[in-house]
Formats: sequence, structure tokens, C-alpha cells
Amino acid sequence: MKSRKIIPCWGAAALLLSVGCGSQTDEKISLKEALKDKFYIGTALSVAQFTGVDTLSERVARENFSAIVPENCMKSMFLQPAEGKFFFDEADKFVAWGEANGMWITGHCLVWHSQAPEWLCTDGSGKNVSPEALTERLRSHITAVVSRYRGRIKGWDVVNEAILEDGSWRKSKFYEILGEEFIPLAFRLAHEADPDAELYYNDYSMAFEGKRSAVVRLVKTLRERGLRIDAVGMQGHIGMDYPAIEEFEKSLLAFAEAGVKVMVTELDLTVLPSPNPNVGAAVETTFEYRQSLNPYAGGLPDSVATAWTGRMSDFFRIFLKHQDKISRVTLWGVCDGDSWRNGWPVPGRTDYALLFDRQGKAKPAVGEIIRLAGQ
Ligand code: XIL
Repeated sequence: MKSRKIIPCWGAAALLLSVGCGSQTDEKISLKEALKDKFYIGTALSVAQFTGVDTLSERVARENFSAIVPENCMKSMFLQPAEGKFFFDEADKFVAWGEANGMWITGHCLVWHSQAPEWLCTDGSGKNVSPEALTERLRSHITAVVSRYRGRIKGWDVVNEAILEDGSWRKSKFYEILGEEFIPLAFRLAHEADPDAELYYNDYSMAFEGKRSAVVRLVKTLRERGLRIDAVGMQGHIGMDYPAIEEFEKSLLAFAEAGVKVMVTELDLTVLPSPNPNVGAAVETTFEYRQSLNPYAGGLPDSVATAWTGRMSDFFRIFLKHQDKISRVTLWGVCDGDSWRNGWPVPGRTDYALLFDRQGKAKPAVGEIIRLAGQ
């Protein structure tokens, strides 16, 4: 006689749950469900993902993440490509998508030396504008952008990457023209435009001792001056051998000790060899393609995939250990194929930096994180 398979009640429920999470994950509970009492788990979205072009990543984002940040469309060169000519179409769609899908929405980023339009800091002949002119331009940009999404965007990366690894100020145009005062200015303007929005300072290479101390000093200075700063964003563009996890943890604790929340804002873990031992995330630093720098174009060996899972899980173990200090952990992209790491710092490589593979399937790290979260 053919035996009939009986699915007990709990088995049927689990089956339903796993089907409900979508076919791309074998887990019985989604990532965002597993982490919902810990911190937001976010992803950066590209325009294709919230405009119905990339429906695969759109679905993975919707089903697995609880927070979103725009990968590019809210950077100043896109929002105000020419002085006074704002372009909000994509940013509006991004926010609408987030609201329709119940996401915690963060804006990225108000003041950043990169992906900023030429006109912002210079005049027609390419010379730096006066401090008064730059102050006025920052005022009009920040006010227009933040007030447009008042009450809808819950937090802003106000200033991005103003400090170097050794703790010195980055000599950006903002710094050249206004000195370090451009930072409190930006925080004040953002707060005036939306008094309820959370405000963040965001940067990479945060595990460096010099940068850690300088960011702590910055947080304290802003607070002493009565300015709002809610959190420090640690970008988290990490590799298999950098940074030392203990140093990352030290920075996380130092920022929390300074009186703000910590967010991991741009997490991705590259498996690829670094062409430069001085690894940061300076988007302007790029290297020529060489085949030897692209070892996994045909697929990732199991041993490397396992090491990747282990390292990603180690980081999440630290995040969960300090969950009282962390408000959000955001991956910089949805699926491996979407990641900027395929193109930076060397163009044309094949990387495996995110939690979902190129087919939108959850990698083993997702299951590990869910288990670490106690589910
Ligand atoms: C990156 C985007 O992912 C790319 O698509 C773009 O070409 C360059 O910028 N630090 C940041 C992010 O704060 O805005 C950067 O995003 C990655 C480094």
C-alpha cells in the first residue's frame, strides 16, 4: 500500500509561512520578521527597483527588508543638477514606494563632496565661491529637499564623509570654503526644515582609530552647540580581511558612548582581492581592470562562500550583541548583481557582496542571521 504523507498541523503552518516568504528563501520566517524587535534591516534601492524595471530585486526588497535608502537618486547632482533646477521625479517615486511597502525611509545624502554638481561650490570660471554664496546654496538645497519630504523621510544622512582615516578633515570644497563650520551649518539647516527628522553623520573606514576619535569629537561638538544629531552611520564596505572586527566594535561602542545611536548604513562584504592595501570606500579612487583581480567570474568556490557566510555572520553577531545601541543595519543593495562592488574600485568584476544571490535567492548567511536573532 502506498503510504500517505501526513503533514502535522505545525508542519502545515511552517509550510504556509515559508511559501508566504516567497520562493527565494528556504527560511520559515523572513529576515525582517526575525529582526523586527532588534533593529531595522534595510537595503539601498536603485531607480530600476522602485520604478518597476527590476522586479526581481524589488520583490526581494519588499519581502525581506524593513527600511530603504536611495542608492543614488537623492544625491545633490541628481536632485539639483543646475542651480535652482530641482529634479524630484525619482526621489518622489522612491518615497512613494517606501510608504506603499511600509518601510522606514532614510534620505541619503544632503552634503557630500562626491556626486555633487559642479555649480555648487564654484562660479562660472571654476573658482571657489565665497563663504556667503556657499552658505546660501547649502541653505536653499537642504531646505528644499528636507522640507519636501517632511514627516515622510524619517532620517537624513546630513553630512557624508567629512573626515579622513587619520582623523583630519577631508579637504573638500566645502571645507576649503567654509572650514569645518559647514558641518554644524548643515545640521542646523536640516533640523529647521524638518524638526522631527533624525539627523546622522555618515562615513566609511570607521574602524580606524583616528577617524573614531574625530567622529566622537564631532558628535560632542554638535551636541555641545545644541544641535541635533541622532546617530552615527558606519558605512560598512568591508572585505574578508578588513577591518578587524574588534576595531569595528570599539568604534561602535565609542559612538554609542558619545550619546548617539549607531547605524550600519552601507553594508557589503566583498570577496575580491583589493588592488590597494589602503582600503576605504572613496568612490573617486578606481583601478584598471586586470583578470587576476577578478577570480570568481565563473562562480564562487564553496570554500570562499563558506568563509563569506562566516564573516558576515560574525558581523551580525556583533550587531545583535549591541542591539540596544543599533537602530538600523542597511545592506548597500539587494542582490549580488546589483552591488556597486562589481564596479568599484575596479570596473567589470563579479562580486558576491550581498545577502541575496543573482537569482534573488537568500544565501546561507540569511539563515544564520535569522538563527542568531533567536528565531
Ligand atoms: C555609490 C553607489 O552605490 C554607486 O552606484 C555610485 O556610482 C557611487 O556611489 N559611499 C556612499 C554611497 O555614501 O553613496 C556610495 O554609493 C558608496 C560609498
